[in-house]
Amino acid sequence: MKLKLVLASALLAIGLSASAQTVIKFSHVVAVDTPKGQAALFFAKKAGELTKGKVKVEVYANSALYKDKEEMEALQIGSVQMLAPSLAKFGPLGVKEFEAFDLPFIFDDTADLHKITQGPVGAGLLAKLDARGIHGLAFWDNGFKSFSANTPLKNVADFKGKKFRIQSSKVLEEEIRSVGGIPQVMAFSEVYQALQTGVVDGTENPISNFYTQKMHEVQKHLSITNHGYLGYAVIVNKKFWDGLPADIRGELEQAMKEATVYANQIAQEENDKALDGVKKSGKTTVYVPTKEERLALKKAMAPVHTKMADRVGKDTLQQIYKATGFDPAKL
Ligand code: LMR
Repeated sequence: MKLKLVLASALLAIGLSASAQTVIKFSHVVAVDTPKGQAALFFAKKAGELTKGKVKVEVYANSALYKDKEEMEALQIGSVQMLAPSLAKFGPLGVKEFEAFDLPFIFDDTADLHKITQGPVGAGLLAKLDARGIHGLAFWDNGFKSFSANTPLKNVADFKGKKFRIQSSKVLEEEIRSVGGIPQVMAFSEVYQALQTGVVDGTENPISNFYTQKMHEVQKHLSITNHGYLGYAVIVNKKFWDGLPADIRGELEQAMKEATVYANQIAQEENDKALDGVKKSGKTTVYVPTKEERLALKKAMAPVHTKMADRVGKDTLQQIYKATGFDPAKL
């Protein structure tokens, strides 16, 4: 009898402690060995440590749970609690200002970029998500994108008539059109096959994504254009977040702060490693455009800024230009 009682209370205690644990499902679409994949795991570990096990972050990589569009919907209905979509994927949510990050050549380097993502403009952008039932926690870097195809991409004329897979951003659509290409929006998880089967001719991505999705197996040419930025906003379901006890939220914010430092530290390294991998594979010819070729691309793409100014918001754009010194009119 006594033993039964002890057993019952032990079971109750296990049950209680299990139910006291909060689970955060963190879904993303890239491979584990990428800046986002690694940073998500870092955050999961830190969150567990700082909350002393009260929070368990389960990371689902490589579109294992949801593809691009579905993951946004899953977050809003609460099927997952955390995501880190790329900034190009917020337009369909109605927050078009995020597409300013897609404007070609808008950031010269990460120092310029961080003036925005790690400063007041970035905080203002994240705050715009609240009205959509989403709370923005941080910006994480990936890096600058390069173009790939099965034919060399040296001159602007080389893009003409080619189909390029892009993320779901109107700015990226214009970017491709500005060089005579045909943009095709497609979920990240479908890109490899689309390249393999010739549904599209080429694509753009930071090298870490290119390499870890094995796109180098199905693209003969990679041109290191660094023509645009790809990074992430880490977001949570707002209702879930607001419902957490304040102390837990504080610990998670600390874990996110540390994960952000980590993410931004490793992003360049991961991309450098991936470029090495591509070169070593011998499957893709890597081309570095000359200064003149890159300038010609920049000039061809400059009108995208004026065309898209209304969409991304002239105020946001002016704030970015002011911080970084970029002036498309001067090209
Ligand atoms: C893409 O769809 O190309 C990227 O946004 C994938 C990612 O999350 O880095």
